[in-house]
Amino acid sequence: MNLDLDFVRAQFPAFTEPTLKGWAFFENAGGSYPCIQFIDKLTDFYRKNKVQVHYPYPASTLAGELMDKSYKRMASYLNVKESEIHFGPSTTQNVYVLAQAMRPMWKDGDEIIVSCQDHEANAGAWRKLGDSGIKVLEWHVSSETGLLNTEDLNELLSSKTKMIAYPHCSNVIGYINPVQEITKLAKKHGAISVVDGVGLAPHGFPDLKALGADIYLFSLYKTFGPHLGLMYVKKEIIVQMENQSHFFKEGIWKNMITPAGPDHAQIASASGILDYFDMIYDHHFQEEVSCGEKNKAINQLFIKHEKELLDRLLAFLRTRKDLRIIGTTTSENRAPIISILPLNKNLDEVYKKLTTHHLMLGKGTFYAVRPFIDMNIPLDPGVIRISFLHYTSMEEIEQLIRGLEKALN
Ligand SMILES: Cc1ncc(COP(=O)(O)O)c(C=O)c1O
Repeated sequence: MNLDLDFVRAQFPAFTEPTLKGWAFFENAGGSYPCIQFIDKLTDFYRKNKVQVHYPYPASTLAGELMDKSYKRMASYLNVKESEIHFGPSTTQNVYVLAQAMRPMWKDGDEIIVSCQDHEANAGAWRKLGDSGIKVLEWHVSSETGLLNTEDLNELLSSKTKMIAYPHCSNVIGYINPVQEITKLAKKHGAISVVDGVGLAPHGFPDLKALGADIYLFSLYKTFGPHLGLMYVKKEIIVQMENQSHFFKEGIWKNMITPAGPDHAQIASASGILDYFDMIYDHHFQEEVSCGEKNKAINQLFIKHEKELLDRLLAFLRTRKDLRIIGTTTSENRAPIISILPLNKNLDEVYKKLTTHHLMLGKGTFYAVRPFIDMNIPLDPGVIRISFLHYTSMEEIEQLIRGLEKALN
C-alpha cells in the first residue's frame, strides 16, 4: 500500500499557505511543519481552557483531562506506561535535568560514555559531570564515515560504566544506529542507555518497549506538534534519581524531573499529533487495532514513501563528482537527513543559489559540533543539510535536484 500524499498534505496548512507557495521545505530536521489537528487543539485550548487545571469547574476539569490524555495516548503509541512519559520544555533542557538528577546515583570515579555523534543536547550536560568526579569516556565516530562502531564501544565498557549516551539517528549523518544491540551491550555491563531520538522520531514513533532503551528523548516540534521535549524514563530508573523539583514534589514522579511549571496548552495539544496519526491510519486501513499496531502500520507507509524519495535523491547525488555526501551513500539504515559538501565551489555561494531556487535548506553544524571535529570538517561554514519527511513529494525532490544542478554547475 502507498501513502496517500494528497490526503497527508491536506493535514498541513503550510502546504496551502500563499506565502510559502513554490517553496520546497528541506530543513525538517530543524523542525517540522505542524499538523492541523495539533494547531486546532492548541488554539482551542487557548480559547476555552486557559485556566489553572484540575479544579472542579468545567473549563478547568476539561483542561486537566486534555493534559492527562496526552500522557496516556503518547504512552499507548510508544508502547510504554503512562507514568514513564514526561513533557519538558525541550530535549536539551530535559537532558540537563536528567544529568543533575542522575549524578547522585553514581560515585566519584564511576564512568559514563558519551558518543561523538550526538547533537550537543545529549553530550554537553553529561560531559560537565566530569567536573564533579565522574570519568567521561568518548565514543568517537569514524573519521571517514561518521559512523559509530560497537566494537569501539566494547573497548570502552567496563564494570565501572554507569551510562552510555548516544543518538538513535544523527542529525548530520542520518545513519540509524542499532539501539537494540547497543542497549543489550550496555545492559551486560549494568549500564543505562540514554538515547537521543530527536533525529529519528519524525520518521515514525518508535516502539520503545521493543527498542529497550532505558531513557529515550525526542522533540515534539519536529514531529508535527508543539515546542516541547518528550522523555521516556523507565520507572525503575526514575525511582533512583534525585528530585529536581520543589521539595514537596519528592516521590511525585511526574514532576521530579520536570521542574519547570508545565505548559498546559502545549501538553494538552500534543495529542493532536496522535489525532493526525489516527486519521492517517483510518484513511489507509480498516482493521481496529491497538495504538501500537496503528503506529507500526503508519510507520511502514511513511518509511516506504521516504525511501522512494531518498533513493532518487541519493542516486542523483552519487552521480556528482563535485560534492561529498557525509556518511553512507545508500538508503540502508538511513533516515532522509543528508549532509553534503560542495568540492569545487564555495559552500555559502552554493547555499545562497539554492535559496534563489525556492529551496529551504539547512547550513552549518546544527549544534552537532563533535562529529564535525572527529571527521575534520571545518565548523565554518559546516555543511549543507537536506532533510525531509513523509509529507515531502517527489516533485519537491525534482525541484531540489534541478536547483542543485544549477547551483553546482
Ligand atoms: C538530534 C537532535 N538532538 C537534540 C536536539 C535538541 O532538541 P531541543 O531543541 O528540543 O532541545 C536537536 C535539535 O535540533 C537535534 O537535532
